Amino acid sequence: MTPPSAPPTIDVSAGSPLATIAHPGSAVRHLRAAGVSIVLDCDGPRLPRVVHWGADLGDLDAATLQAIVRADVQAVVSNVPDRPITPSVLAEHATGWMGLPGLIGHRGGADWSTLFVVRSVATRVDLDGTQRVTVQAVDEAARLELGLVLELLRSGVLRMKATVTGSADADPDRPYTLDGLTLSLPVPRRAAELLDFTGRHLRERHPQRRAFDVGSWVRDNRRGRTGSDATVLLAAGTPGFGFGHGEVWAVHTAWSGNHRTVAERTPNGHALLAGGELLLPGEVALGPGDSYTSPWIYGSYGTGLDAVAGRFHRFLRDRPGHPATPRPVILNTWESVYFDMDLPTLLDLADHAAAVGVERYVLDDGWFVGRRDDHAGLGDWQVDPDVWPRGLHPLVDRVTSLGMQFGLWVEPEMINPDSHVARAHPDWILATGGRLPVESRHQQVLDLANPDAFDHILGSLDALLREYRISYLKWDHNRDLIDAGHRADGRPAVHEQTLAVYRLMDELRRRHPRLEIESCSSGGGRIDLEVLQRTDRVWASDCIDALERQTIQRYTGLLLPPELIGAHIGTDRAHTTGRRHNLSFRAGTALFGHMGIEANLARLSATERAEIADWVALHKRLRPLLHGGRVVRFDDVDPSLLVHGVIADDRSEAVISVAAVATADSAPTGRLVLPGLDPDALYDLALLPPGDMIQDEDGHRPQGNNHRLPPWLTTGIRLTGAVLGHAGVQWPELLPEQLLLLHARRV
Ligand code: DGJ
Repeated sequence: MTPPSAPPTIDVSAGSPLATIAHPGSAVRHLRAAGVSIVLDCDGPRLPRVVHWGADLGDLDAATLQAIVRADVQAVVSNVPDRPITPSVLAEHATGWMGLPGLIGHRGGADWSTLFVVRSVATRVDLDGTQRVTVQAVDEAARLELGLVLELLRSGVLRMKATVTGSADADPDRPYTLDGLTLSLPVPRRAAELLDFTGRHLRERHPQRRAFDVGSWVRDNRRGRTGSDATVLLAAGTPGFGFGHGEVWAVHTAWSGNHRTVAERTPNGHALLAGGELLLPGEVALGPGDSYTSPWIYGSYGTGLDAVAGRFHRFLRDRPGHPATPRPVILNTWESVYFDMDLPTLLDLADHAAAVGVERYVLDDGWFVGRRDDHAGLGDWQVDPDVWPRGLHPLVDRVTSLGMQFGLWVEPEMINPDSHVARAHPDWILATGGRLPVESRHQQVLDLANPDAFDHILGSLDALLREYRISYLKWDHNRDLIDAGHRADGRPAVHEQTLAVYRLMDELRRRHPRLEIESCSSGGGRIDLEVLQRTDRVWASDCIDALERQTIQRYTGLLLPPELIGAHIGTDRAHTTGRRHNLSFRAGTALFGHMGIEANLARLSATERAEIADWVALHKRLRPLLHGGRVVRFDDVDPSLLVHGVIADDRSEAVISVAAVATADSAPTGRLVLPGLDPDALYDLALLPPGDMIQDEDGHRPQGNNHRLPPWLTTGIRLTGAVLGHAGVQWPELLPEQLLLLHARRV
């Protein structure tokens, strides 16, 4: 076969006028959407290369596009290959690229360095505005085929994935062992600072920054789940970039199993952000005709992190399955009763829940056979007759007759050795090396790639969903996958397990189309854009302490819009930290997510229940704004404060939270600037009850010290968006862990 020098196949379908692909007939594609441009060099015969990913370049003709490509060709300097190095989206060592190769694999030590030749390029615009470039390529020597898909979505989010296939005529006795596939995007030299995230149980998604120097910053995950330490985004930006300023390029690896996200800068002037699945040894071997498809690697560009996040929010809100109904306020039984389940208590809790305005009641862990604590029962998904002689019916009936939805906790991928299913099917437990993996929370992992185990779990969950009016599953996953092999032969199983979990969720949703699923994994350990294709909410953290939640929700919100982030009001003393917070701080923090309550309401005073009811009512009143508007986080505030808010798309209204997370350095704390409003419009700005009002008749704060408030705060003030955005308003000193809400309403 002689490879064509310019790929031949072009197919352009008419689509939304919002999106265009400039000059699809030329070898350079220009994709534009929502302020983002991608210039893709598809000139062949090498794999396509992103020449520009960033700000919109405007309407460019074919000659200019060719010139952009030419302008990007490096000089050949001393002691480098004689041809310029131009890494493609799947960077190949054979082209002279000496960083992380996009494809790593071999056939018994041979065929380890590929050089694909492009066979065709297809370009298409979908009716929803998605612009897609599809590339087919082949490496005849290595007997491999490659398919690449790059999409620019109407949100301006871009995503890429690749499929590698063993050629039909490859030697069946020499399968291609795939060790890794990463796709990369270039960022410019001025993206000199990196931001990524780490965390642990109870403290997910905390930021860390560093200079983007020469070398690799590699975030590997071998937990078999997304991980509470996973970097929700890996961002590179101009030094000092913040929420509202600086250019930022960020990638996200959308995979709920082992994965790798990398920032790499070479001494030859290249800087890339890359991501892919992290494959275990021998996990994928491609015989003739076998294929492997990578996860989607997402990229979002913008001025400031809020713009990057805003694109992801729009992308998620554009999903056909994005929740269309107001997000029901939840009561979750976990921190209310833990394993101490008895029907009268739970019925009483349902009555109290309905009375404060709860709309969905979720029965957490502890309802199934043998599950009196966390040592036993996982895998036996039948209602425990000892605790529930009439099944869950009395509770489900009460909950639904009170007008609430009923939700149920499950952990389908897990199995306790002390369970009927483990005793009957020890071969269903993931293991390798002829031993069982070290236990974690006294549990092991069920091999869902085993068709019998899969059918058993699917059948058990399906039976529950058929018997009871369950609208919602809280789908938990409480341990890392260690030594996770198929027990029969010990082969690594994480890749297949991850796909099987997706299949299980998909099949349950197919059978029960109105079912909603929450992705929980010891709190926020499974939050990624692939699980979000089949789930409707995430549990951001097991830590409900509002002080910790301020940070956890702030950064979870870089990927997810507020309506997908579970945020609950806990008891005054946080169970996981022992800190005490007043209701304003707790509820004002939960207000901005998908709100819930996780406290035994029966044990609270009537006054506190009434106050909680006020907060629930406020959340419901603000819900269209909170769950539909644009999220903003403010950069230039006193370091003791975390300020964030939501602004209506038409800028008619905004609600802003000002939370003191420490004692201020200066008192008063100076001017608070509220950017993002319509500069020409007048706004009434005032405190929003029932948040702490910090005022009495004299304008003194009632709690403790008696510093005066700035005069405007006692009465509210009318100012233009420009004044609020540039001059701001004086801000008092708050008590540590005090939260105020502000409401701005266009006059
Ligand atoms: C971990 C979850 O994050 C909690 O909310 C709770 O559901 C427990 N598991 C139950 O075991």
